[in-house]
Amino acid sequence: MTLIDGKKVADDIKREIAAEVEQMVASGMRRPHLAAILVGHDGGSETYVANKVKACEVCGFRSTLIRYEDDVTEEELLSAIDRLNADPEVDGFIVQLPLPRHISEQKIIEAIDYRKDVDGFHPINVGRMSIGLPCYVSATPSGIIELLRRYEVPTRGADCVVLGRSNIVGKPVASLMMQKANPGNATVTVLHSASRDIAERCRQADIIIAAIGQPGFVTADMVKPGATIIDVGTTRVPDASRKSGFRLSGDVDFEAVAPKCAYITPVPGGVGPMTICSLMKNTLLAAKKEIYK
Ligand code: GUN
Repeated sequence: MTLIDGKKVADDIKREIAAEVEQMVASGMRRPHLAAILVGHDGGSETYVANKVKACEVCGFRSTLIRYEDDVTEEELLSAIDRLNADPEVDGFIVQLPLPRHISEQKIIEAIDYRKDVDGFHPINVGRMSIGLPCYVSATPSGIIELLRRYEVPTRGADCVVLGRSNIVGKPVASLMMQKANPGNATVTVLHSASRDIAERCRQADIIIAAIGQPGFVTADMVKPGATIIDVGTTRVPDASRKSGFRLSGDVDFEAVAPKCAYITPVPGGVGPMTICSLMKNTLLAAKKEIYK
């Protein structure tokens, strides 16, 4: 069994990005600049955004954090997005989700100029990804593909089961795994809450990508010997022994499943660290105008 070390791969990639940024700066270009809008004080969102700002420092990027309270109006947010869209000094920006209920997330996402949408959530980027055109691919699916690439996990002709059909992970990763590419070229089955024979279908899979947010859902009896398991779950479960009061739990019963696998990602330290890294890569691509002029 090979443990896929997402933390190490993410650190390697950030070093590669930092080296490229120093070369860009030495040749007279300005540093890539990522802006983030954070609304309210949700614990998870605060942590994610703080980590994104930290990753910008590591990569040598400029970053700008724009904060609003929970009672910000949709109009105010839309004006902030207009300003960032028009700001030539900002290469890319994100609006951290979730947003308060009085604001339409879809309206916000669609207001972002797709050429600065380094989260890859705008329908133009989602659509271009699904037909294999250059675009910003969202962070989690792109991090998963990068892990498969760097560990040279065979995907061509493999039977791949994706558990979960979310817009952020399940749908895009299924689309990438079936694309005529490497990694890719897999035969993909997407299973969800209305699917039948889930355990049996998982047992036939060469690769399982679990993204349903149910701790321990994938048990050893659902896994074929020699399969590759990618665990996207990051559910906070109460844990009095931790200073934070919680620990992160994946969708896979790691202890029981790991001995059966060819490759497996741990939680934490697997897919998680890769996601921020993918955002940094997209920001670098934006700064270099490699995808859109
Ligand atoms: N909330 C959870 N994940 C993400 C992400 O990748 N981007 C943004 N903007 N918000 C999130």
